[in-house]
Amino acid sequence: MKPFQIFTATQEHLPYAPAVVDAINDASKVKGTGLALRTVEYIESKIREGKAVIALYHDQVAGFCYIECWEHQRYVATSGLIVRPEFRGNGLAEAIKKEAFHLARRKFPTAKMFGLTTSLAVMKINSRLGFVPVTFTELTTDPEFWKGCESCQYFDVLERSGNKNCLCTGMIFDPAPKQKQWKRKKSSSLSLEDSTRPMQ
Ligand SMILES: CC(C)(COP(=O)(O)OP(=O)(O)OC[C@H]1O[C@@H](n2cnc3c(N)ncnc32)[C@H](O)[C@@H]1OP(=O)(O)O)[C@@H](O)C(=O)NCCC(=O)NCCS
Repeated sequence: MKPFQIFTATQEHLPYAPAVVDAINDASKVKGTGLALRTVEYIESKIREGKAVIALYHDQVAGFCYIECWEHQRYVATSGLIVRPEFRGNGLAEAIKKEAFHLARRKFPTAKMFGLTTSLAVMKINSRLGFVPVTFTELTTDPEFWKGCESCQYFDVLERSGNKNCLCTGMIFDPAPKQKQWKRKKSSSLSLEDSTRPMQ
């Protein structure tokens, strides 16, 4: 892999926001790519809030991703994953997404994490992180989130389905099932102990 530097973005990365927006705009023009467009101000706000991951190659932006909270931090979306074309195929998207995943887990450990994607690469990356595909009914119902899709070239499809279906696949990482599994294991070991207890 090329010598990329991957960071949780900070104030010093604010000047890169216009290049991030250009990269998202260029990628959204490719047919079949469902990408929400963002303004420079929006990208800057994510950087200021400590909710963005940036990859640099020397002094150029190579890739970017940000996180957004919904329904009072019940859900966290990882969005806007982008790798500039000249840097693709190096495992960079996976490295950025991992960084964003750990950032979201640190900041919002009980939140369900989700994303929408048309990209096979992103589906692969998400699956490796423990995300599973779900219908849109499992995602946030916050209208502000779905409003964010308005700038996507396929928004009319989403609108016609009442936010139930679109070209994107929804994927979710739910931290809760592991806890349930643990409880189930704990209770089954208890019952095992019970059954091995000598009868009185
Ligand atoms: C999707 C995107 C982020 C992938 O970036 P990348 O740095 O090339 O991806 P990686 O090198 O980390 O690849 C991760 C995995 O996906 C696979 N992959 C990458 N591009 C792929 C493609 N076009 N089709 C199928 N698989 C692909 C890789 O082979 C790798 O899998 P492997 O480890 O099993 O070999 C990049 O192509 C992009 O910016 N596209 C436009 C914007 C976009 O669609 N963003 C996603 C929005 S949800």
